[in-house]
Amino acid sequence: MRHQRKSSALLSGALFLTVAFAAGPARAAAVAESPICLRVEYLANPLGIDAHAPRFQWIPENTERDEKQTAYQILIAGNPSALAKDSGDQWDSGKVESGDSTQIAYAGRPLESGHRYYWKVRYWDKEGAASPYSEPAYFEMGLLERSDWKGQWIGGFNMMRKEFTLDGRVERARAYVTALGYYELRLNGRKVGHRVLDPAWTVYPRRVLYSTYDVTRLLKPGTNAVGAMLGGGWATLPIGKPYCSEPAFLLQLNIDLEGGKQLSIVSDGSWEGKQGPVVSDSVYDGEVYDARVEVSGWDQPGLKDSGWAAVKILLGTDGALSSQMMPPIRVTDTLTPKSMTNPDPGVYVYDFGQNTTGWAVLQVRGSRGTAVKMRYSELIYPDGTVNRANLRAAKSRDIYILRGGEPEVYEPRFTYHGFRYVELTGFPGTPSLDTLRARVVHSAVRETGSFVASKQILNQIQQLIHWGQLSNLMSIPTDCDQRDERQGWMGDAQVSAEEAMMNFDMAAFYTNFIRDIRDSQHLDGSVPDTVPHKYGMYPSDPAWGAAYPLLCWYMWQQYSDRQILEENYNGLKKYIEFLRSRAQDNVLRYSYYGDWVAIEPTPGELVSDFYFYYDTRILADIAKILGKTEDAATYSTESDQIKDAFNKAFYNPHSDFYANGSQTAQALPLFLDLFANPLSRYNYNPVFGHLTNDITYGHNTHLTTGFIGVKYLLPVLTEYGRNDLAYELATQTTYPSWGYMIERGATTLWELWQEKTGPSMNSHDHIMFGSLGAWFYRALGGIRQAEASVGYRQLVIDPGIVDDLDWASASMETVQGRVSSSWSRSPGSIKLDVTVPVGTDARVLVPKEEEMTVGMVKVTEGGHLVWQDNRFVAGDAGVVGAEAVVNGVRFRVGSGHYSFALTGE
Ligand code: BGC
Repeated sequence: MRHQRKSSALLSGALFLTVAFAAGPARAAAVAESPICLRVEYLANPLGIDAHAPRFQWIPENTERDEKQTAYQILIAGNPSALAKDSGDQWDSGKVESGDSTQIAYAGRPLESGHRYYWKVRYWDKEGAASPYSEPAYFEMGLLERSDWKGQWIGGFNMMRKEFTLDGRVERARAYVTALGYYELRLNGRKVGHRVLDPAWTVYPRRVLYSTYDVTRLLKPGTNAVGAMLGGGWATLPIGKPYCSEPAFLLQLNIDLEGGKQLSIVSDGSWEGKQGPVVSDSVYDGEVYDARVEVSGWDQPGLKDSGWAAVKILLGTDGALSSQMMPPIRVTDTLTPKSMTNPDPGVYVYDFGQNTTGWAVLQVRGSRGTAVKMRYSELIYPDGTVNRANLRAAKSRDIYILRGGEPEVYEPRFTYHGFRYVELTGFPGTPSLDTLRARVVHSAVRETGSFVASKQILNQIQQLIHWGQLSNLMSIPTDCDQRDERQGWMGDAQVSAEEAMMNFDMAAFYTNFIRDIRDSQHLDGSVPDTVPHKYGMYPSDPAWGAAYPLLCWYMWQQYSDRQILEENYNGLKKYIEFLRSRAQDNVLRYSYYGDWVAIEPTPGELVSDFYFYYDTRILADIAKILGKTEDAATYSTESDQIKDAFNKAFYNPHSDFYANGSQTAQALPLFLDLFANPLSRYNYNPVFGHLTNDITYGHNTHLTTGFIGVKYLLPVLTEYGRNDLAYELATQTTYPSWGYMIERGATTLWELWQEKTGPSMNSHDHIMFGSLGAWFYRALGGIRQAEASVGYRQLVIDPGIVDDLDWASASMETVQGRVSSSWSRSPGSIKLDVTVPVGTDARVLVPKEEEMTVGMVKVTEGGHLVWQDNRFVAGDAGVVGAEAVVNGVRFRVGSGHYSFALTGE
């Protein structure tokens, strides 16, 4: 197949297509090489795009090695048949010479509110041959103007309804819906869509997000009924000043009937409401649901019931109505309990075996008015009863009051809990394992990465990170999921972001969160500790505020997102200027939390000043990328000044270490190369020497950092040549370590290195120690980007062979395509399998064992000799060169899949 493709390379695109057809099935494989994974604003076939110039991306597949895209053509049409005829009546980009397959902004005729557009793309390869077009994809615009919304914010009841008549068949119908709080939209007796806890929590006074649903099939000619249930969500929760005193709801239901008639059903004063069965609901406390109050058929036409009254018209918010262009919160899994115990009479405790986020589903049959209670916990006491001490003030319980008679099934709608155990009381009769199930609920981001290794503890930590990360994505990145907090703490968000981006597709999620940060910024440039701001301070601790520049920067590095840099440039500049206004003699000293939850303290001012430098340097880099030369020069001079001042303030030339000598105080400056004199009088880096001594001898190979320090500690050890020591820390099983948590039964990461189970601050599901996940991919899997590479265009594969490990395997779906690196070793040989996406160049280190001599090793790729007698052997497709390095042979390769094997002595 490879050769066939090559022979047609010189043919023009159109001709190639014809020839491919004429040649019949033998050439059919070329079709598979059309672009795949088409996305608009990072989403697959999205509804409700409200960017005026949406950005497109695809992956140019090609089974040939060393291939790249040299040009592309996008066609966008107003209907599928035009597109099928290769007409881009909306936009035909023409042939654009470019290797970019992501961040391509729309440049066609203005896109209209509510319209669906169809698109496809093709690309030209290295030899100038055109690929076939991709399968068609689509995107649909949301409501672009405020005037597209005809309805009013309504409320006053938690159950509201309206009937309406359609005099014809429905051709197309879309519901655009939002709430201050949570809503459940219902049409003709059915829940609309699969979203839960919708819409996302945003800075409501600035921006609320609406969701778009295709409801064509839920409507029918004749009488229809639309209903909405409302919950308070984050809008009415009394932390600080609630956003509003009661939830509010807004709907725009646009219907096209057969024959061209259009009509809209909107939320307005014609709706009627009643208090429904949800007696109370609270994110922290849970729900009380009285099934006796249910009104059967309330969301269907023809309701005969009394007590419904006109709804209230509410002010809602003046904030912008934006489309929710990110993965919604959904139920992603249902867990079966591992065990049920009966520690006290009438008290049953279910263990789901996994700490997670969501709620329980109850199956029950009993007499009317029986109240069944479910209380959630992460922990149990030795006597088997639930330990809820660490939930603080969160009641975290759901109560269901039975209708009576037939079997009943209940699950709450407007709350969520962080839990592994559920205590069931008040149950009529004896429950069984089947009485409860657990719903797993979080922002449904796609898993895009995987890491596995021969050492089981690493896989267990990876699992903890996986669960901990997902359970802390509730439309914003949260600190925890169980106690009376669950906030968008920015420090936690910034340290975990790289890990999250490697394990999951976070592009759309963080795009939204960065908007939230911008919406939270004060005029003086300061940002808060939590976004949306409820907890913590304004201005943020500098290590927390650093989430603003760092998330923008990671979006650039991981996804090539230049637009984020552009949109936030002024905001970032204001933020850094704010920090500057608080600095004295170029040192920023104010700090609240510093290296939070550390075992050995580090002066908070060192942590703050480190981020002052980091942020300024990032701003200088962004200015350079955006072509703002003057700013780039200014901020790079300023960052040099901060660097000097940092060393003056915190480096002690007599002791040869920073500040009080803590691990964090050394790791931070080493990470950013702040240490001015790496080779001191002893011809070795004394700061790094002090750090490794402290770990090895001072603490018997344990870390002492908090969650800020740990983000940099292992990468620094690896970078300065002690991957072995980093590995020992990562696999340590005694206190303090990740392994210690696992030995003590953790299934998500703790907030503290200590195992605390009392009423103090000790969540058992915090994600910030999960920053280690990024180190797995980079240091053990060996997947890195070359300096200055963005979006994985220049890859460095540098597997971390450590003594104790037989193999490791990492893979990531990047914007460029799939990247993977898997290595294994056996006596006398090392194997390395690598996948490099189309358009990416890679430098691949095939490592040797320490005792081998480079001059004596032989390397093959797919059975072909590529290195022998200290020389590169040319001829293997895609392998363009090689050089000997201290720890192996480094090859230069183009795209493709490679299987290297090194043997030698
Ligand atoms: C949160 C942390 C957060 C911290 C700020 C805690 O309550 O759970 O993770 O970053 O406050 O100090």
